[in-house]
Amino acid sequence: TSHVSAVLDELCATVEDYPSEGIVFKDLTPVFADGPAFKTMVDAIANAFEGSFDAVAGIEARGFLLAAAAAYATGTGVITIRKAGKLPREVFAESYALEYGEATLELHKEDVPAGTRVLILDDVLATGGTIGAAAALLERSGAVVAGVGVVLEIEGLPGRSNLADYEVVSLQKV
Ligand code: PRP
Ligand code: MG
Repeated sequence: TSHVSAVLDELCATVEDYPSEGIVFKDLTPVFADGPAFKTMVDAIANAFEGSFDAVAGIEARGFLLAAAAAYATGTGVITIRKAGKLPREVFAESYALEYGEATLELHKEDVPAGTRVLILDDVLATGGTIGAAAALLERSGAVVAGVGVVLEIEGLPGRSNLADYEVVSLQKV
């Protein structure tokens, strides 16, 4: 096991029957709250794509934490992909099915210069609906998706196969 795997094993909390009966929820907040663990996690994701991206896109809400840290660590910018209705200027919008429910993500039309190589980060890859919508938004802007990084990849769901067009790196499969 790598160092980052050991850190995640130690600190990631498992919550049964949340948010509904039968769902096993992986809670990363203890990892985010631990300074050395947070740094290990962010560096592991950023290093996997070293030199291949010009900006980092974070998906509201939990993806923002990773994207801001990875962008700061690499001297790149952050692109905010937000839940519907939060961005004030003209947006592209993409709807998607969540593991439980449905949602829409938006991206300002003018935030990403065409040709920008963008690394998409989020905390968890489950069905891939969220990241798939984020990738579609970036491509509609003329950006190039440089890769997809997540901390946890839920096995037994079609997340990775739904993102087959992209290089997907997860730190841990659960
Ligand atoms: C969770 C998680 C991922 C997404 C994964 O976000 O943070 O973004 O679900 O699911 P998927 O691969 O099936 O799309 P959520 O929408 O619950 O909101 P949050 O990040 O704002 O807490
Ligand atoms: Mg999320």
